[in-house]
Amino acid sequence: MKSITLLGATGSIGLRTLDLVSSFPEEFSVAGLAARGSNVERVADLCKKYSPRVVALLEADALDQLARLLPAPRPELLAGPEGLVALARDVKADIVVSALVGGAGLLPTMAAIQAGRTVALANKETLVMAGRLMTAAARARGVKLLPVDSEHSAIFQCLQGHNRSEVRRILLTASGGPFRTMKAQDLAQVTVAEALNHPTWRMGAKITVDSATLMNKGLEVIEARWLFDVAAEQVQVVVHPQSVIHSMVEYVDGSVIAQLGVPDMGIPILYALTYPRRLPCPADRLDLTRVGALTFEEPDVERLPCLALARRALLEGGCAPVILNAANEVAVAAFLDGRIRFTQIPELIAEALARVPARALDGIDTCVDVDTRTRALVREWLPGGVTAAAK
Ligand SMILES: NC(=O)c1ccc[n+]([C@@H]2O[C@H](COP(=O)([O-])OP(=O)(O)OC[C@H]3O[C@@H](n4cnc5c(N)ncnc54)[C@H](OP(=O)(O)O)[C@@H]3O)[C@@H](O)[C@H]2O)c1
Repeated sequence: MKSITLLGATGSIGLRTLDLVSSFPEEFSVAGLAARGSNVERVADLCKKYSPRVVALLEADALDQLARLLPAPRPELLAGPEGLVALARDVKADIVVSALVGGAGLLPTMAAIQAGRTVALANKETLVMAGRLMTAAARARGVKLLPVDSEHSAIFQCLQGHNRSEVRRILLTASGGPFRTMKAQDLAQVTVAEALNHPTWRMGAKITVDSATLMNKGLEVIEARWLFDVAAEQVQVVVHPQSVIHSMVEYVDGSVIAQLGVPDMGIPILYALTYPRRLPCPADRLDLTRVGALTFEEPDVERLPCLALARRALLEGGCAPVILNAANEVAVAAFLDGRIRFTQIPELIAEALARVPARALDGIDTCVDVDTRTRALVREWLPGGVTAAAK
């Protein structure tokens, strides 16, 4: 039986992971759970159902409420960013599922790696911010970083049994998001509800907006660069609106190997939890005769410039991806709050990349410092300034 610490237990990935724990009670148990604390009743229900030994919530008030909701004997309760780090580092677990959203996952994920724990990584923003540091720490500790992102799980599967030096390039597929065919002049008017209406995947709000801007694919190019140790130029993005091929690897002889499946995160999550074994995932099965045509096109980076911004940041190196990610997180939150237009998201990111001094990525403290400064600066640029956006 594998014990799991789940960072981001109440999110889309977290809840799907817990569904799998319920489906395979003889395979998995829950050692620890972490969340921000936005929905304490849900965390209490998860504690009753999965009996974790330790729970960490970012918000201390939420932790007090949780203590009142849970009858004794209750799990050990930890609060704040230090609590999340302690959970990832100190609670004995076979695997840590890193599924917090955004930069909040950086320090707990790094703590899990430094403690020598296998990490199933959904939280792509952490690799965008500190890919070089995290992969170096994982190598130094002999820690496995197992991809959960469906595209990276696909690439990981296409690489099994092959020689990495024979990889020519990675073909990273993208659905294209809800605005794939929308005219450039209409993008400024799109609503939050339209941006959240993803054509093929049901996910948390932040990643869904990232999919609409194509920033999600930009973050994934950076994620692939670090997870698979390939050059940025070796990662080609291909828009594939049916989301059936989750990504491909092209080898030097011209063979292209693909991984296909229905768009259900249960499949890559379960593979990361059981790697190298496979279990019968409780998910729909792919029926290609019902899918019909599979189509492919180039991404339109003129209309949706976030993918190009991410590539620029990756090529610039150092802390540029930290600036990209921080600006994107603030801009997406402001869009979701109705404070900026959709088209202002890439504008704010471009401005941050131009104006925040780029520094060498010489340690995790620098990463945190650049992240904090960038967020503060971009919040000042928002309509209404810093106070209303400080969330
Ligand atoms: N959803 C997908 O299908 C999918 C696919 C591939 C990759 N990913 C990646 O997986 C990660 C999670 O995505 P998601 O869609 O599951 O997100 P989500 O549904 O928004 O859930 C986010 C989780 O993180 C917690 N959280 C949010 N802000 C936090 C903070 N500041 N500190 C501590 N915890 C915080 C939330 O807790 P509360 O509920 O208490 O707020 C929740 O448990 C993201 O990095 C995303 O890019 C997701």
